[in-house]
Amino acid sequence: MVSAKLPFLTTSEIGAPIQGPTATLLYDDWYPALRADKLRPGKLATAMLLDIPLVLGRRRDGCIFAMRDSCPHRGIPLSDGWFDGKRLTCRYHGWEFEPCSGQCALIPSLSSHDRLDATRIYATAYPCEERDGQAWVFIPKPGSGRATESTERRPLPDLAKFGTRYHTACLTADLPCNVDHGIIGLMDPAHGPFVHQAWWWRSRGSIREKTKRFEPIPEGFRMSAHAPSGNSAPYKLLGVYGEPVKTTIDFVLPNRRTETIRCGDKWFSSLTTVTPVTGSTCRIDVVAAWNVFYFVPFVTAIAKFFGAKFVRQDQVTMIQQAEGLRHNPSLMLIDDADKPAKWYFALKQARLDADATGATPKHPMSGPVELHWRS
Ligand code: FES
Ligand SMILES: [Fe+2]
Repeated sequence: MVSAKLPFLTTSEIGAPIQGPTATLLYDDWYPALRADKLRPGKLATAMLLDIPLVLGRRRDGCIFAMRDSCPHRGIPLSDGWFDGKRLTCRYHGWEFEPCSGQCALIPSLSSHDRLDATRIYATAYPCEERDGQAWVFIPKPGSGRATESTERRPLPDLAKFGTRYHTACLTADLPCNVDHGIIGLMDPAHGPFVHQAWWWRSRGSIREKTKRFEPIPEGFRMSAHAPSGNSAPYKLLGVYGEPVKTTIDFVLPNRRTETIRCGDKWFSSLTTVTPVTGSTCRIDVVAAWNVFYFVPFVTAIAKFFGAKFVRQDQVTMIQQAEGLRHNPSLMLIDDADKPAKWYFALKQARLDADATGATPKHPMSGPVELHWRS
């Protein structure tokens, strides 16, 4: 997977964290913490997910792990300690932990007079899996004790692939707004002609009326398979294959948008997630795979160049938006362009209610609907 240095603004360039309103966070689900190629045997990396500081690494046997970056003894960050590829040693009193389970293996200060069994002590370790080039971490509800059994967890998302030969790329950008604003920005159809104006994408004058069919799917909604907009240049390029182009876009809780474009045996697939870093900041990650233009030289570099410009346009807009949100304005959602955002909030509330009552989440859509907007 290619992952070059990208022209995104870093957290420090975004400026001091803008304390806008916080979002309610959804636990008991998987979130991407960082790119898995950042995890090298014997090295430690840190990340923040849902306000939880994490230390991540890769054991010598290849297994990756994520622990709360805090020693259960006195709370010093475990990332300040040492990792030999097998055990993580706290730098304060030298307690040693097996990092995948969090189990304490050794307390150096214990003497022959002590009865304490070090192996009954656990640092907090989270289920952690590598998939599609990302390290995914399962974040349980705070206070729910040791991690759930793997059978009780929601499944890890997969980037769809339709063959064995494909290119891949990924992008990451920090956003200074809370996860809800990041997500509704992701599914907002009306900002395209204003935020993403570019000769290679679309112009403001290219706005036209659109009708799209949506259908409910478990904990989400799907923009049913349709021919993509004729006013977007990248889609027009696919015309060279002379086959009908069909695109399907899904949104599924807690934060995932998947898009698949099929054109005969050619395809493009992406998984975009907006992950809460803290209650008031988030990060957008895009992983993509495709076999369209497979033999075009530098296709990955070209795709990353345009992909990065696109995400950067969203990022700059959200930095401006965060400036406005810091003063807690009242906001509005209109029909039909903001209908997907309304569904997102309803789906989220349904999951929160179901978590509280143990009932099955109630879906806000009773069946397929058509939405109309101009973009
Ligand atoms: S604080 Fe970590 S071993 Fe004491
Ligand atoms: Fe956008």
